[in-house]
Amino acid sequence: MPDFRLSVAPMVDRTDRHFRYLVRQISRKVRLYTEMTVDQAVLRGKAERLLTFHPTEHPIALQLAGSDPKSLAEAARIGQAWGYDEVNLNLGCPSEKAQEGGFGACLLLEPLRVGEILRAMVEAVAIPVTVKLRLGVEGESYPLLARWVERYGETGVRTFIIHARSALLNLSPLKNREVPPLRHDWVHRLKVDFPHLTFILNGGVRTLEEALPHLEKVDGVMMGRAVYEDPFVLEEADRRVFGLAHRPSRLDVARRMRLYLEAEVQKGTPPWAVLRHMLNLFRGQPGGRLWRRLLSEGRSLGALDQALRLLQEKVGQEGEEENPDPKGNAAVKRTALGLSRQGI
Ligand SMILES: Cc1cc2nc3c(=O)[nH]c(=O)nc-3n(C[C@H](O)[C@H](O)[C@H](O)COP(=O)(O)O)c2cc1C
Repeated sequence: MPDFRLSVAPMVDRTDRHFRYLVRQISRKVRLYTEMTVDQAVLRGKAERLLTFHPTEHPIALQLAGSDPKSLAEAARIGQAWGYDEVNLNLGCPSEKAQEGGFGACLLLEPLRVGEILRAMVEAVAIPVTVKLRLGVEGESYPLLARWVERYGETGVRTFIIHARSALLNLSPLKNREVPPLRHDWVHRLKVDFPHLTFILNGGVRTLEEALPHLEKVDGVMMGRAVYEDPFVLEEADRRVFGLAHRPSRLDVARRMRLYLEAEVQKGTPPWAVLRHMLNLFRGQPGGRLWRRLLSEGRSLGALDQALRLLQEKVGQEGEEENPDPKGNAAVKRTALGLSRQGI
């Protein structure tokens, strides 16, 4: 049985392989999801670019979107062949593009088709097929949600990730993550009503403190925005959720990302593709803003080296929490200004 206790949500333009690699440096166990990947793009030969992941990313799930059972089954097969641990079907995206393509949240209005799709995907692969859905479309009804779960549960799908708010198709994706009210209690209730199925609660969970109590009522929690905005929100995930001794330090993670960036640049990856995901690594820490500025202005391996040197100077050799004094901070700022005058 896969471990679903804590995962990082699929997020377009966020959870690409570089950000996932960064997250993996912070938690060895948290489950990772790709960005939503449209089946046709996988089938049309873009697999290499879309599906590549680093071996350390396991456990890693491929999130697919589409509306045709055959193509989704084929895309799932390709995902399995690439080594993914799970394929997930997106039934939550409310964007116009998704509506035009007939995939994402609007598919929830076609439960028969969803059933067909899931059956085809389950038949196509040996790895778990999971779904990520909203409470409803244009409103919500617990009995209807429970019927979907019951029906989809009959296809062989065992795991349901529930973004605990409904989708409003006339609202932007951004507003759709804010406006419809969250109903975490509905996800708790699903677990009571379908104890044999696995339920992951998603939506609005900002910290590990907030996540932990849910784990007493459901099988897992998925966090999205909070992790992107401050990846070290997962600092204690391995220890507190998975019982591992591992506790990462920001500087260690930054140093490992430096090695990663160097290797990626040699393969032709533009440095910014990696650096942009590292901006929040020192969020809320002394020197954090400076870090962010140096990376965004420099956008190069050299800028990362500069930022690393400054942060290292700031926090000292002993660890990040060792030197929080504001004088040190001022010294770092002065040095940084000097550096930026030299054009670094
Ligand atoms: C920038 C962004 C992109 C997203 N892209 C996807 C996606 O590709 N697939 C998906 O199922 N959900 C996507 N979502 C929704 C998240 O997976 C998640 O359900 C939502 O943000 C609520 O969780 P949170 O409150 O922990 O962020 C996206 C969210 C954001 C902020």
